[in-house]
Amino acid sequence: MKYYLRLILPLLIVLSLVAAVFTPIVDHLVVRWFENDVEMRSRLIFNTIRDSLPVLAGEISHKGMESLFNRIAEDERVLAIGHCGRNDDLLKASRLWPMDITCERFRTEDESVRSGLLATRNLFFAAFPMRDRQDVESGSLIILHDMSFAAHRSLKARFYLMGFLIILGVSVAGITILLAHLTLRRWIKSVHRSLRGEPREKDDAEEDAELAPVISEIRQIWRAMDLSGATTDGIRVDWSPDTLRRVLEVELSEAQVMVVSNREPYIHNFDENGSIVVQHPASGLVTALEPVMRACRGTWIAHGSGSADQKMVDDGDRVQVPPEEPLYLLRRIWLSEEEQAGYYYGLANEGLWPLCHITFVRPVFREEDWRQYQRVNRRFADAVVAESTRDDPLILVQDYHLALVPRLVRERMPRATIITFWHIPWPNAEVFGVCPWRKEILLGLLGSSIMGFHTQLHCNNFIETVDRFVECHIDRERQTISIGQHTTRIRPYPISIAWPPASLENIHPVAQCRQIVLERFNLSPDILLGVGVERFDFTKGIPDRFRAIETLLERHPEWIGRFVFLQVAAPTRSRLPAYQEIQKEAESLVERINTRFGTGSWQPLLLIARHHEPDQVYELFRAADLCIVSSLHDGMNLVAKEFVAARDDRQGVLILSSFAGASRELMEALIVNPFDVTATAEAIDQALRMPADQQYDRMELMRRLIGENNIYYWAGCLLLDASRLRKRDRIKANMTRRA
Ligand code: G6P
Repeated sequence: MKYYLRLILPLLIVLSLVAAVFTPIVDHLVVRWFENDVEMRSRLIFNTIRDSLPVLAGEISHKGMESLFNRIAEDERVLAIGHCGRNDDLLKASRLWPMDITCERFRTEDESVRSGLLATRNLFFAAFPMRDRQDVESGSLIILHDMSFAAHRSLKARFYLMGFLIILGVSVAGITILLAHLTLRRWIKSVHRSLRGEPREKDDAEEDAELAPVISEIRQIWRAMDLSGATTDGIRVDWSPDTLRRVLEVELSEAQVMVVSNREPYIHNFDENGSIVVQHPASGLVTALEPVMRACRGTWIAHGSGSADQKMVDDGDRVQVPPEEPLYLLRRIWLSEEEQAGYYYGLANEGLWPLCHITFVRPVFREEDWRQYQRVNRRFADAVVAESTRDDPLILVQDYHLALVPRLVRERMPRATIITFWHIPWPNAEVFGVCPWRKEILLGLLGSSIMGFHTQLHCNNFIETVDRFVECHIDRERQTISIGQHTTRIRPYPISIAWPPASLENIHPVAQCRQIVLERFNLSPDILLGVGVERFDFTKGIPDRFRAIETLLERHPEWIGRFVFLQVAAPTRSRLPAYQEIQKEAESLVERINTRFGTGSWQPLLLIARHHEPDQVYELFRAADLCIVSSLHDGMNLVAKEFVAARDDRQGVLILSSFAGASRELMEALIVNPFDVTATAEAIDQALRMPADQQYDRMELMRRLIGENNIYYWAGCLLLDASRLRKRDRIKANMTRRA
């Protein structure tokens, strides 16, 4: 609107100026025109009667002249006609001669005709010299015209002029607006087509030339705003909760941030005495997102799985967390036994988990599990919509439990920014193709604005899978997938941990931690200690690592009695056969290896199948000489990063599986193939022998990397990309609105 106003305002100003200048000119011309007209009439009258005037003037009674004058004055324009004598006396006049008008006014020095306006009376006079029969000057014949008609006519002329200018103005403004509107529409459409890379229309050539600079400028801006790794790599600041808060304040101040995940960040359980205790789940996802939520104070929607969870919520199933310092809202979703069995244990953990991890555990797909999975995903999507206070929230959907949520939310909130992060690996297209609901799952995920993975390889696998099973447009250069008008960007965001980790705040010095742990497990002070900490999951390669230790003791018997490996494994998904089997296998391996190599006071393997809180885990890490992360396949693996973070003394060696995403970043670890038991055994040997200065150098490099690429950096990249996307969407929406 403003734009059009700007367009017609100058036009209105010009027209007003034209009116202001031309009205007095037109007025003047009209009056002049009428004056000429009446003067000519006067001449005509005078010429018509001039011959009879000497005769009539000679009459004693002047009767003839009087009646002649009255007849002439009947003309509506002629007010009066009179004869002024040589002595300026009015000798004869028609009836309506104004008495205050004397003959002196019309006196002529010579014998010429005079005419002009008597402005005070709005009269026009014409004075003609008269001669008597002897051809002697005998005064003047005065004809007076009433000029009020001229004033009326000039008013009318002014009225018509203004009318004309108004009609002209309105028509010109209307045509200008229409033409500008059509041109603008065409331009915007053309810019749209060019930016989307759509084919040009036949008659677009001229516009192309005009718009080329504009389009190239927009492209440059877009490129600068593009969500490429390069942009986010460029942000090398010290990422902390404060920086994250600043990003949220500056870039996403208006956004409502929500996290949606299956696992909740705080689980309230009843202990044996019936008191309520808080458990922090052993989940990489929770480790990563908890600091983000603390910084942005949003809402986290998750399954309420604790025995005391229902006790802690309000009427809306919400509870403020963290319990010790409430900063954000946790909205709990309750799942029935059947829902948990089908959605969580069934499709998510017996289907998708083994499908995405190449560990040769066969995935199980049951129709009933799929039904429950769809149902629970719908319930999570309902909760997202219910918790939204605006139509464009920023929703961070987490993991393989909720693959259908992005699309379900998108259908109901098209303006939402949905970032889905897949915390586990994405297999290649052949592997994923065995899933009976592969297309539905892919379409569900493609409801996201951004789909994040830990590594570029997982991004590539995802794009290949979509290419194989979904009809869509893939832009490999930009790493985008479009279906209709909706585009999903595929991006790697290597997840990380809080830096510095909270668990280091009040922890004992390394030497003391070591002493405490060795005493706790009755180990001699000079023992070399290796640790492994994870959930009891078949992807973690726990039995393989035990076999590697067995091989180590076979190949390097000098470590017998000198090296102990402590494995902490939190039981998980224990009702599933694959998990029961892996635990059984691990336990029997420990028994066998300990029997084979153990002596009275020394056992090579210690297995503790119990959940450990983060502070306890950090204590173990600080006590250890080496840590083994031998996952058979892992999205990232934050245990590896936590071990490095725990070692502020820069001692200790990390042995890391090449099949964990973390191996792409932590290259100073001893990288192993966990399927190769001998090579892993040799890596353990190398670690045990590694000189302190080499440990220091490797640790230092890895610490620097994690310190820079910490969880705030991960979240910052994600949120900055979301913010750029929202800005772009706003530009697009504005363009569409104007088109
Ligand atoms: C992996 C998954 C997470 C999950 C965690 C713990 O890290 O990617 O989504 O929360 O394992 O698994 P659980 O089944 O105990 O939630």
